[in-house]
Amino acid sequence: MSATKKTQAKKKPSSTKTKAANKRGKLAVGAALLDQLVQEAKAVRERAYAPYSKYPVGAAIATKSGAIYVGCNVENASFGGTICAERGAIMAMVAAGEREPIACAVVTGDEGASPCGICRQVLSEFATDMPVVLVGLGSRDGESGRVVQLADLLPLAFRLKA
Ligand code: THU
Repeated sequence: MSATKKTQAKKKPSSTKTKAANKRGKLAVGAALLDQLVQEAKAVRERAYAPYSKYPVGAAIATKSGAIYVGCNVENASFGGTICAERGAIMAMVAAGEREPIACAVVTGDEGASPCGICRQVLSEFATDMPVVLVGLGSRDGESGRVVQLADLLPLAFRLKA
């Protein structure tokens, strides 16, 4: 997926302190930003390519620079070729030159779903912890969803010691 940048990313060097805070999941992420992510994920979900599962998913990731990257699931006739929405958003973020996500939203049409195992690992590559908003458009909560922490979704994520 291509990235939609709501705010033009300013390329200033990030401080080590902020980087460390992000890694620990301590950066404050306001409700307004989480709401914005939900709206972006809801919009990109409309563009999902899901002819086999009929289960469109949208994801949006905010980075420390203020940019937002989106992704939707793209399925394939060879089912294993399917890419989830969350990974699509991560690919867009990295392709745009960014590596510091601070929050993520995932929108589905049912009661809400949490990222699959592969996506949890891929998200964990770039943020040890961050809030992940899970929104099920068919749930009673509507667009408010529920916020979970990435570190709770994937404790003991695999890391390669370089
Ligand atoms: N899917 C996602 O995009 N994200 C998730 O977190 C769970 C599953 C997609 C993959 C597939 O296209 C469809 O949902 C059904 O599994």
